[in-house]
Amino acid sequence: MPDTTPNLPAAAVPSLGPVDQARVLMRVLLGPVIKGPIVRRPKAVGLAERIDADAAGVAEMQRLRSRHGAGPVQLRLPGRRIALLLDPEDVHRVLNGSPEPFSPAMLEKRGALNHFEPGNALVSSPRQRLSRRPFNEQVLETERPVHSHAEQMGAIITEEVEALLGHADFTGTLDWDGFAVMWGRMVRRIVLGEGARDDHQVTDDLRRLRERGNFSYLVPQNRRLRDRFLGRLQEYVDHAEPGSLAEMVARTEASAEAEPVQQMPQWLFAFDAEAWATFRALSLLVSHPGAVERARAEMPQAPDLPSLRTTVLESLRLWPTTPLILRDTTAETRWRNGVLPAGTAVVIFAPFFHRDDATLPEAHRFSPDLWMRDRGDGDWPLVPFSGGPGMCPGRNVVLLTSSLVLAELVGQRDLVAEQPLDTAVLPGTLNPFTSTFTVRRH
Ligand code: HEM
Repeated sequence: MPDTTPNLPAAAVPSLGPVDQARVLMRVLLGPVIKGPIVRRPKAVGLAERIDADAAGVAEMQRLRSRHGAGPVQLRLPGRRIALLLDPEDVHRVLNGSPEPFSPAMLEKRGALNHFEPGNALVSSPRQRLSRRPFNEQVLETERPVHSHAEQMGAIITEEVEALLGHADFTGTLDWDGFAVMWGRMVRRIVLGEGARDDHQVTDDLRRLRERGNFSYLVPQNRRLRDRFLGRLQEYVDHAEPGSLAEMVARTEASAEAEPVQQMPQWLFAFDAEAWATFRALSLLVSHPGAVERARAEMPQAPDLPSLRTTVLESLRLWPTTPLILRDTTAETRWRNGVLPAGTAVVIFAPFFHRDDATLPEAHRFSPDLWMRDRGDGDWPLVPFSGGPGMCPGRNVVLLTSSLVLAELVGQRDLVAEQPLDTAVLPGTLNPFTSTFTVRRH
């Protein structure tokens, strides 16, 4: 977006003093890094929940805004400038200004994702994005609420959730470990095809590569492992199992520069975030009075499951799985309070915008109605899927598959959270890995 602000000062955007800078590092920026940006560390997530780390981050951002107004503000670290956004208008400007002058392919993200998908859209130059982004949009059918593979996806979900519930009937409980096994099978079938259901090797390889990704440039790449992993994905594309996304990759026209196979690790990887969001949505659903009944009532009439979709969106608003939306500036940028040089990292801390109780009366309440209409640039930014040209192209696949899983779970059984949530005052951090539900047949 061209900058039209008149009479801008030429001074630099204000920098935080050493004490404020240390507070922001500790309370806002380090938390997501310690929890594991590329693959979560469950112990760190548990600790974050105990100290409600995300609520502390939001409070810190509110304090910065009361001291600095609409900002932005800068942190100056050795070799790196980081700008924190405090104002909704700036969030929309940055997201809409992707990939230039606000590039999603920021330095540390490239270091992390290059371990397993150096040719992915997210870490591409603006020229490479021209082919890679549309390729993702074509296969994921970004603009369609219901993907053309929805029937196959639904059948896979029914089978896998049935198997999960069969096990839960036996033990009487549904916990994260069982859910995660079901999820892995479901994702491999949807993305790679039936033959991948029990291909644990492909998931383990990706996991090992992602663990390296958590350390970005600090550990060397394991090219042999990456070649084996990407080679396996290529085999699934060659096999092109009908109804899988691999089949769509095989039959979608693409230039060599689009690197079709290297778009796939992002899908496999990002389905993890959906698993956490779905398990948290289940906690919301079974804790909120009347929510399960509302969901059950819509199932036969509305195959796009609007109330379940908004529950998933609420789960993502309350506990965003991408808490830091990151961009690097590719040119000098001007702001209301000064300029930032090219090469500055720009940070949108999503929990601040999602949970700012000074602006959003619903901040800490379960409020699916927030999502009942389309949201645009005039609205307060709720950005679990980012926004603008870099917005998640998989968002509709996420909402579809997540709401189908929830529909199967609450449609087939009565579930009771062992630790129900108070949906009028929700915690800033919720660890999905320790949620447990008792399961009963209706
Ligand atoms: C809860 C689940 C998910 C959430 C919250 C989510 C969120 C996001 C966000 C915030 C971004 C932008 C990242 C950035 O700007 O740096 C993104 C990018 C992306 N997501 Fe998702 N995602 C989810 C699941 C998925 C799934 C399941 C897929 C594919 C099946 C997917 C495909 C992608 C791709 C390909 C990109 C890169 C887009 C680009 O660079 O243009 N996501 N996602």
